[in-house]
Amino acid sequence: MSTARSALFLIIASQLVSLVPTTIASPGQLGIAQAQPRWNVSGTLSSLSRRDSAGYNNPNATGGSMLTIVNGTYPAGLGEPLNVILSANSNKDVLVKSADDGGFLNYMLSTFMGEECLGQHLGDDQMANLGDGQGNHTQVEELRWDFGNPYIGTCQETFQGGLHLRYWVQSTTGAYFMATSIEVGASAGHDIVSDGYNLGRDYLVGNLTGTQVESWNVTNQTTYSGTSSHNNYTYRTDVQYVSGLLLNSSDGINHYLTVETSTEPAIDGLVAVLTVDILSRPTSSAFASLSSVSFGATLLVAGIASVLLLV
Ligand SMILES: *[C@@H]1O[C@H](CO)[C@@H](O)[C@H](O)[C@H]1NC(C)=O
Ligand SMILES: *[C@@H]1O[C@H](CO)[C@@H](O)[C@H](O)[C@H]1NC(C)=O
Ligand SMILES: *[C@@H]1O[C@H](CO)[C@@H](O)[C@H](O)[C@H]1NC(C)=O
Ligand SMILES: *[C@@H]1O[C@H](CO)[C@@H](O)[C@H](O)[C@H]1NC(C)=O
Ligand SMILES: *[C@@H]1O[C@H](CO)[C@@H](O)[C@H](O)[C@H]1NC(C)=O
Ligand SMILES: *[C@@H]1O[C@H](CO)[C@@H](O)[C@H](O)[C@H]1NC(C)=O
Ligand SMILES: *[C@@H]1O[C@H](CO)[C@@H](O)[C@H](O)[C@H]1NC(C)=O
Ligand SMILES: *[C@@H]1O[C@H](CO)[C@@H](O)[C@H](O)[C@H]1NC(C)=O
Ligand SMILES: *[C@@H]1O[C@H](CO)[C@@H](O)[C@H](O)[C@H]1NC(C)=O
Repeated sequence: MSTARSALFLIIASQLVSLVPTTIASPGQLGIAQAQPRWNVSGTLSSLSRRDSAGYNNPNATGGSMLTIVNGTYPAGLGEPLNVILSANSNKDVLVKSADDGGFLNYMLSTFMGEECLGQHLGDDQMANLGDGQGNHTQVEELRWDFGNPYIGTCQETFQGGLHLRYWVQSTTGAYFMATSIEVGASAGHDIVSDGYNLGRDYLVGNLTGTQVESWNVTNQTTYSGTSSHNNYTYRTDVQYVSGLLLNSSDGINHYLTVETSTEPAIDGLVAVLTVDILSRPTSSAFASLSSVSFGATLLVAGIASVLLLV
C-alpha cells in the first residue's frame, strides 16, 4: 500500500471502529431485561476498563473536591456536598442528558425531579471541580421536585421549597455528580432545612427504589435496589452508600448552622452511588433500535467493501 492509501485505510478503519459501539444496540436497548448490564463484545477499550472500576473517580484525589463552590458564603469558601453519584457503570443511555431514549432527564422524571419552573432559573449557580482537568465548572443545571406534575410542579417547589439538586458531569468518566438537599421556600431565601443534605439524598434514593430510607440509619454498607418508571421506560437502580468521599462533619459545609442538629453534624459523610439499568422501554423505541442495528451493519459492510476496493 502507498502511504496515502494506508493513511486512508487507517482513517476509514478508525471510523468503522467508532461506528460499532454507537450504532449496535445492546440487549438492554432492545427492551430485553438483563440482570447485569455487562455486555462487552463491542465496547471500546476505555468503556471496558471503566466498567471494571467504581464508575467514577474521587475528585479529591486529583485536585478537585466533593464540595461545591458557592459564591459569597460566610465565612468564605463553604460548599455543598456532592452526595449522590450516578455511576458510569450505568446503562450508557441514562448517562446522556436527554429527555429522549431513556436519558438522564427522563430517569430523573421517574423520581419526580424536573427541570426548573417554565424554564425560569432561580437561585445562584454553583461551581464544582470534579478533578477531571476541567477546573471549576458551573453546574449543568438545577432539577426540582415536581410534586408529581411534570408540567408545572417545579414552580411549586421554587416557591414552597423542597427537594432539589444541582449536577455536574465528570468528563473523564461520564459519571454525574449531584448536590441534593431540601431547601426552605423562596421567601426564606432558599436556606437548607435541618439535616437537609442527608434528607435530600435519602428522599432521592427512596423515590428511586420505593423504599423509605431512614436518615442516620444508613452506613457505608447500606444498599438498596428498586425500580422507577417514566414514559414507559422502567429503570432499576442499585444504590450503594459509600464513605470516605466526604467527611462526617460540619466542616466547610454551607448553611451548616441551620443544617446541623444538637447531636449530629451537617452531613453524615456518606455518598449514595447509583448504578442504573433500563429494564424496559416503549415498544416503538425497540423497533427504532432494531433498525439502527441493521443500518449500522449495512454501513459496516459498505465500509469494509470500500476499504477492500481501495487496497
Ligand atoms: C467480558 O467478557 C469476558 C469473556 O466473556 C468475561 O470473562 C468478562 O467477565 C467480561 N467483562 C465484563 C466487564 O463483563
Ligand atoms: C461568582 O462571583 C464572581 C465574582 O463576582 C463572578 O465572576 C462569578 O461569575 C460568580 N460565579 C457564579 C457561579 O455565579
Ligand atoms: C476554584 O475554586 C477554588 C475554591 O473556591 C478557588 O480557590 C480557586 O481559586 C478557583 N480557581 C480558579 C481558577 O478560579
Ligand atoms: C420522595 O420525595 C419526597 C420529597 O420530595 C418525600 O416527601 C418522600 O418521602 C420521598 N419518598 C420516599 C419513599 O423517600
Ligand atoms: C434502622 O436500623 C436498625 C438497625 O440496623 C434496623 O433494625 C431497622 O430496621 C432500621 N430501620 C429502617 C427503617 O430501615
Ligand atoms: C465501612 O465501615 C466498616 C465498619 O465500620 C469499616 O470497617 C470499613 O473500613 C468502612 N469502609 C470504608 C471504605 O470506609
Ligand atoms: C482531600 O484531600 C486532602 C489532601 O489531599 C485531605 O487533607 C482531605 O482530608 C481529603 N478530604 C476528604 C474528604 O477525604
Ligand atoms: C457521624 O458521626 C456521628 C457523631 O458525630 C455519629 O453519630 C454517626 O454515627 C456518624 N455517622 C457515620 C455514617 O459515620
Ligand atoms: C406505554 O404504556 C401504555 C400502557 O401500557 C400503552 O398504552 C402505551 O401505548 C405505551 N406507549 C408506548 C409509546 O409504548
